[in-house]
Amino acid sequence: MKFISILFLLIGSVFGEIINTWENIDYAKVVDLSKSFVKERHIIKAINTGSEPASTYYFAIPKNVSESIAFSFASTIDASKNEVPMDSHIDEIEGGVYSVIQLPFPIAPKSKVSFAVSLVITNQLEPFPRKQALGDIQNLVLTTNKAPYSAYPTKSYKIRFQGPSSAKEVKTIGATDPFGWELKSLEGGFSYDVTEESFAPYTESPVSLVYERNLPLPYVKDLRRDLWLSPRLNTLQVEEHYDYSNKAAELISGFSRADWMNKRMSTKSSPAITAIHFPLYKGVEIKDIYFTDLVGNVSTSLVMENNLIVKPRFPIFGNWNYNFTVGWTHKLSDFLREDAEDKDEYLLEVPLIGGSTDVVYEKVELSFYLPEGAEFISVQSPLANTDYSISEVYSYLDIFGSHTKVTLQFENLVVDLRNVKVGLKYRYTLAAYLRKPIYIGLSILVALLSYLGITKIDLSLSK
Ligand SMILES: *[C@@H]1O[C@H](CO)[C@@H](O)[C@H](O)[C@H]1NC(C)=O
Ligand SMILES: *[C@@H]1O[C@H](CO)[C@@H](O)[C@H](O)[C@H]1NC(C)=O
Ligand SMILES: *[C@@H]1O[C@H](CO)[C@@H](O)[C@H](O)[C@H]1NC(C)=O
Repeated sequence: MKFISILFLLIGSVFGEIINTWENIDYAKVVDLSKSFVKERHIIKAINTGSEPASTYYFAIPKNVSESIAFSFASTIDASKNEVPMDSHIDEIEGGVYSVIQLPFPIAPKSKVSFAVSLVITNQLEPFPRKQALGDIQNLVLTTNKAPYSAYPTKSYKIRFQGPSSAKEVKTIGATDPFGWELKSLEGGFSYDVTEESFAPYTESPVSLVYERNLPLPYVKDLRRDLWLSPRLNTLQVEEHYDYSNKAAELISGFSRADWMNKRMSTKSSPAITAIHFPLYKGVEIKDIYFTDLVGNVSTSLVMENNLIVKPRFPIFGNWNYNFTVGWTHKLSDFLREDAEDKDEYLLEVPLIGGSTDVVYEKVELSFYLPEGAEFISVQSPLANTDYSISEVYSYLDIFGSHTKVTLQFENLVVDLRNVKVGLKYRYTLAAYLRKPIYIGLSILVALLSYLGITKIDLSLSK
């Protein structure tokens, strides 16, 4: 180990960007397993062991985790436990993946800094086994690093899991575990009894943990979310087209409706999806709700306790698909802000995604259809690397011309981003719909509203 660290130091200082200037003197990893995706929080207290002030911390991310990160976020923690967001971005450096964190100020040699890194990770949970009979209780398996995986040496390490009250380690044949730590139950979760007091940089110790979670793993392969703005009618029409699926355990034999009824499955929690909830926004009017699928109009939708609940025609089991469309109408004015200086300029702010309480989205296409005659000014996306396009579309309503359509494309989103807003700025004058619209080919502005957006994301871990 010592040899490897020395070698690393040499390589790091001669060629690399990552200079071994930190030591983690306290490291706590908390893994939240209460949803269908994984949230990790790494709370680190580090000391600058170098001879120069340091202001960058390279937070190492294992390769297989880095490919599935929906979101990452870093914040400093002050003495009274307040958190302030820090600048961070994910980058590949010297073959490794890191969240490159800019500390708010340079940390002097021998001084300490405390911060937290939160990661929201998809594709880490799998049913175990992959197939089971109707009515069987589902288990999930998580593969994670048990030891601290860090670019720097670590002392005093803790790891804790939240959600399930217990788990079992599954041994991989041929794999050796350098750490024979015991699992123990805690209030609201479980943890490992860590016995080591120091860890070399980049200690890898993958472990597979199996725990009970008899709920679906809802998964949207594709969501097309269309928003039609009409100032004349004061409406914001929302139409969402879903390609909905479930990553839960598959049925070992075919589906039998009789069996489903006999076991009274619809009244129990199970890995099948029987209803989809769309939380509604407080104080926002909603009307003209419809819900259709490939067969036609589905009558089973209702609004209850601030949720629009739609019931698919059949339970969606593991690896089954259900395509449906759901739509409704809001008051446009509930989402609009007029510019204080220019009364003809408007800012529309809408949530990035709308639905469900626990779901992962593989692809999301969010389109705004501007009112006829409106001039598009800019769009503000809360997420980096947003793909976008602007086009002109005609609809049967268009008498004089076309609508400007602005489309944003996202990948790998989770439901926690539902309070994050996308902003659309446009100019619209009362007489505009009488005129032929002028297509203003302004370049799109994808502003990184990182702080604004991030503070609205639910990165808190369930208690
Ligand atoms: C990462 O992937 C490798 C190869 O697929 C696997 O051996 C290892 O266990 C994985 N580690 C984690 C933490 O998932
Ligand atoms: C469901 O929607 C997806 C994406 O729009 C499409 O590729 C797929 O063919 C649809 N499935 C069916 C059964 O129509
Ligand atoms: C769909 O069902 C609703 C409620 O049952 C009804 O009001 C509506 O007219 C139906 N729409 C179509 C297109 O059949």
